[in-house]
Amino acid sequence: MTTVYLNGEYKPLAEAFINVLDRGFTFGDGVYEVIPVFNRKVFRLDEHLERLDNSLQSIYMENPLSKDEWFTIFSKLVDTEKQVNQSIYLQVTRGVTERDHDISLADNPTIFVMSRPIVKKDLFSGIKAITHDDIRWKQCDIKAITLLPSVILRHKAKEQDAKEAILIRDGMVTEGAASNVFIVKDNIIYTPPKDNHVLPGITRDLVLEILSRKNISYVEAPIVIEELLNADEIWITSSTWEIVPIVKLDNNPVGNGCVGKMWKKTNQFYQEFKKEL
Ligand SMILES: Cc1ncc(COP(=O)(O)O)c(C=O)c1O
Repeated sequence: MTTVYLNGEYKPLAEAFINVLDRGFTFGDGVYEVIPVFNRKVFRLDEHLERLDNSLQSIYMENPLSKDEWFTIFSKLVDTEKQVNQSIYLQVTRGVTERDHDISLADNPTIFVMSRPIVKKDLFSGIKAITHDDIRWKQCDIKAITLLPSVILRHKAKEQDAKEAILIRDGMVTEGAASNVFIVKDNIIYTPPKDNHVLPGITRDLVLEILSRKNISYVEAPIVIEELLNADEIWITSSTWEIVPIVKLDNNPVGNGCVGKMWKKTNQFYQEFKKEL
């Protein structure tokens, strides 16, 4: 039975309930984080908590807990699960108020945390993605719980037997429905710069950090759709999927249709980095 944390208490998942007037439920008024745990160690804790701070600040909320308090909760929940690789989900909403937009009514945030095993899917042999218009709002740098566009986009991908939708806004690649995007052309790695159309992915930043350490050059620059369609390699990154090669895009092979050599190298470095922890 999974144990979760809800507003100061640890309890079985089946016994964790919130008030229907929670603003997370009525307005989608909250933010979240997904933090991977590899070999029982919380991965990139500081980076995830910094992004949480930024998300909360953007929605006019303060972080309700200190770093030590978050870490204590994570450690307790991770200990209750058998699997060594897990994914911590945390959500902070503005709490329970009457159904009124006014945020000054809220004074008691709802804090929910759980940790679930990472179920390894076979993604490293390459997956199929579709391209789609980026139908989301203009504050995608906030990790907001309001994920309806991403849910729809992932469903559209699934309808075409694909696992991810790569999003295009005004002819430029932004990111995946739940991932960041990299392309490789003539052995050079490109990824879109961080702005309000892109979630600042922790895995994205780590990949760039690892590339720098290995003296592999990369370019953070806008990617136009033609560059995506003509790329030798496309990868997506996320905390739980890690670095995943796209081998088919909209039914066309990416490059030669096989996993690329730059992905192999980068993924190897990434896996080595994880083991060093
Ligand atoms: C829209 C979006 N972009 C990028 C990412 C990747 O972020 P991270 O590497 O921090 O998991 C996610 C992860 O869920 C996401 O939802």
